[in-house]
Amino acid sequence: MIWEKRTSRENRRVFSFNHDHLIVYGKIKPEFERVRNPLGLSDEVLLRYRNPDTDPRGAWQSVSANAQAGHGTANQFYRLKLPSGRELDPPKGRCWLYTKERMEQEIAAKNVWFGVDGDNAPRIKKFLRDNEDSGLTPETIWPAVEVGTNDDAKKDLLQLLPDVSVFDNPKPESLLERVIHIATNEGDLVLDSFAGSGTTGAVAHKMGRRWIMVELGEHCHTHIIPRLKKVIDGEDPGGITEATKWKGGGGFRYFRLAPSLLEKDKWGNWVINKEYNAAMLAEALCKPEGFQYAPSDTTYWQHGRSTERDFVYVTTAQLNHEQLQQLSDEVGADRTLLVLCTAFRGRAEYPNLTVKKIPKRVLSRCEWGHDDYSLQVEKLPKAPPKPGQQGLFSEEDETEGKQP
Ligand SMILES: C[S@@+](CC[C@H](N)C(=O)[O-])C[C@H]1O[C@@H](n2cnc3c(N)ncnc32)[C@H](O)[C@@H]1O
Repeated sequence: MIWEKRTSRENRRVFSFNHDHLIVYGKIKPEFERVRNPLGLSDEVLLRYRNPDTDPRGAWQSVSANAQAGHGTANQFYRLKLPSGRELDPPKGRCWLYTKERMEQEIAAKNVWFGVDGDNAPRIKKFLRDNEDSGLTPETIWPAVEVGTNDDAKKDLLQLLPDVSVFDNPKPESLLERVIHIATNEGDLVLDSFAGSGTTGAVAHKMGRRWIMVELGEHCHTHIIPRLKKVIDGEDPGGITEATKWKGGGGFRYFRLAPSLLEKDKWGNWVINKEYNAAMLAEALCKPEGFQYAPSDTTYWQHGRSTERDFVYVTTAQLNHEQLQQLSDEVGADRTLLVLCTAFRGRAEYPNLTVKKIPKRVLSRCEWGHDDYSLQVEKLPKAPPKPGQQGLFSEEDETEGKQP
């Protein structure tokens, strides 16, 4: 698509760059052609529809009732009697759009317009309600009057976040609205893996889409979080707020990626990342093992629990028989303990202990150790509700080391 990103002339350069490109990709082209949404009718188009005869079917516009003579059959050439009584032939080189019989049916159905006095050449009525369903095919040129400019976006951002520096080329919300409208429906998931000032997420939110934004820069804190909080609180009057009748609501969760839990040593073996301290490791391993991280202040081996009597203990130590026996004695007959360690010696058979090496599936499930921290969207942990909180914003993982 060609987007008219500025409307003023840029005099400093050889040419004034007034447009930019949007590149459209579809994973399966025919599928995209099937699901792509048409555009709504613009104000300009809507103004063409009127209702001078107060037709109960609503506003309409009209198209000529004659066609090129070469396209017609012999029975489309006839003399037509207008409501005023005047008789009219089709213009030279033209025929009527319909046969005489069909024309009479259309006139009876009040689908033909002869002007207020009934004396004009016939025109066929096209009703707005029939057009509304199909909408408009998006064109490849997107003018500034329809989708806004970089300058519009700058003004909106300055109004919303007056204290932060504005990006060089922020995108106007109406531009993203068109993109998201064409490609998605309510409830769909929109991804912006280079979120910048957060326009995509803000627009997706106002349009009732779910969204994921990824950002490695500080503007996550300076721009994106404050912006989305305002959107949620209904304190963002700019952009598409008015057009979408946005009043606020919804929420989001924020995750900070921890460093990789495991890394390869120089011999290619998986070892626990040196950046991890014991507490971080314990917390990271509780979830995949089905335990709630709840370290005890008094009992060193209680890092988490699944029930009142079932605990988990994570250690980077290699445990020998004496250590395991001592643990088993402390746990006692009424409780059970999962021990996750890097290695153990002995047969590790204790009635109340399950002793495991840190499981391989931690590696495969979480892709630790790659530079790819796949966030499994379908398995996102639920944010705990905060008392008295209306919007569902929660800043998770602010403390270093938590894993999504
Ligand atoms: C030009 S901005 C995009 C802004 C926004 N998508 C828009 O169209 O208005 C690109 C952003 O991507 C961020 N970024 C670059 N590499 C990244 C990465 N590997 N992971 C996450 N964010 C990244 C940059 O910090 C920058 O804020």
